[in-house]
Amino acid sequence: MKIAIGADHAGYRLKAKLVSWLRSAGGGRHQVVDLGCGGVDSCDYPDLAAAVARAVKGGKASRGILLCGTGIGMAMAANKIHGIRAAVTWNPRTAALAAEHNGANVICLPARFAGITKAQVMIRTFLSTPFGGGRHARRLRKIKQLEKC
Ligand code: RB5
Repeated sequence: MKIAIGADHAGYRLKAKLVSWLRSAGGGRHQVVDLGCGGVDSCDYPDLAAAVARAVKGGKASRGILLCGTGIGMAMAANKIHGIRAAVTWNPRTAALAAEHNGANVICLPARFAGITKAQVMIRTFLSTPFGGGRHARRLRKIKQLEKC
């Protein structure tokens, strides 16, 4: 799977570990596009959220991963891009439900509250859980309608 990933300074270190992991043993089948940031110097999370969200919206990646301190700012910013459903997840169950119920195409991780192991499990779960369809598809159509407001 082609995955776009981005982080602000708070998520930079965890992003670096996840990029290596996704490209090697943990997820060697993935193609990872790292859209920054490039270090721990302070930067603005909306810039990275926009880069990843646009990559997903434009088809350059089929899923996105965003990391900031809480995941919250990244989700708020990414969800401004039409077609993006970005979800903050904090454990494997919420990662599964974001994919199954909400058809999330971007996962936003709280780098100040999750270590590498938890992040890996959430990502693996998110990427491998299919969308549930049915009543969830109806609800996604209603979300899409809201994009016109
Ligand atoms: C940066 O200090 C912090 O505000 C940011 O990483 C994120 O948590 C925002 O939602």
